[in-house]
Amino acid sequence: MNFRREAGSGGRRHASPPGSCSEDVSSRHSISTKYDRASKSYDRMEALIETLLFRKARRRAVAHVRGEVLEIGVGTGKNLPFYPESATVTGIDVSCGMLERARRRAARLNNTEIRLRRMDAEAMPFPDDSFDTVISTFVFCTVANPHAGLGEALRVLKPAGKAIFLEHMRSRHVFLNAVLGFMNLFTLPLLGTSMTRDTEANIRAAGFVVHDVELLFLDIVRLIVATKNADASAKA
Ligand SMILES: C[S@@+](CC[C@H](N)C(=O)[O-])C[C@H]1O[C@@H](n2cnc3c(N)ncnc32)[C@H](O)[C@@H]1O
Repeated sequence: MNFRREAGSGGRRHASPPGSCSEDVSSRHSISTKYDRASKSYDRMEALIETLLFRKARRRAVAHVRGEVLEIGVGTGKNLPFYPESATVTGIDVSCGMLERARRRAARLNNTEIRLRRMDAEAMPFPDDSFDTVISTFVFCTVANPHAGLGEALRVLKPAGKAIFLEHMRSRHVFLNAVLGFMNLFTLPLLGTSMTRDTEANIRAAGFVVHDVELLFLDIVRLIVATKNADASAKA
């Protein structure tokens, strides 16, 4: 599935506009429709868990990035304030509503080069081996075909690059999974988000070499550091 490629390059100290959102993609990608709708209240909806857990986790995740960074599913741009000045960040998302919020957030930051582009993670127009870092936070629970999206993430990562996944996923505990399964009754229709995907297994199946898995909330929220090749250093 391809969306029109957006004009997305931006200069230092400002974010580029998310590009044209006039194309009607609702019949082609229901996730974008769901997130366009959710974008208006998304930050408010997540405010409590953001304060209690996610903000700290984002800092930890973003601390790993370097060089040319691709953030997949940038959403409303909650990670943007944490990027180092030295990073050049390309944030992509399928939802214009979410990108618009990210653009506003980026405009308030003045220290990092940020480009925002509307794009489907399952079919990105970047050449192979483009980025030093690929990062996603709470995204591969939602990408319609996570295998395709993770395959693309691997493809665009440089051979010596690093992938950072801060994701929630199914638990190894039966009781917790029952709770997560119950949550699916709401999250799937509202946001297309599955609480019971085995994202760590999907990351490994895509071909990433996993170097570190940190459990940040039970075994549900995990920070996973991976590389494209076994000999690439996850410490770099
Ligand atoms: C749960 S939100 C997380 C947003 C952000 N990463 C964060 O940490 O707050 C998931 C995001 O992934 C985006 N998304 C879902 N499927 C996508 C796809 N195929 N391509 C690009 N973005 C996608 C949604 O539009 C949404 O902004």
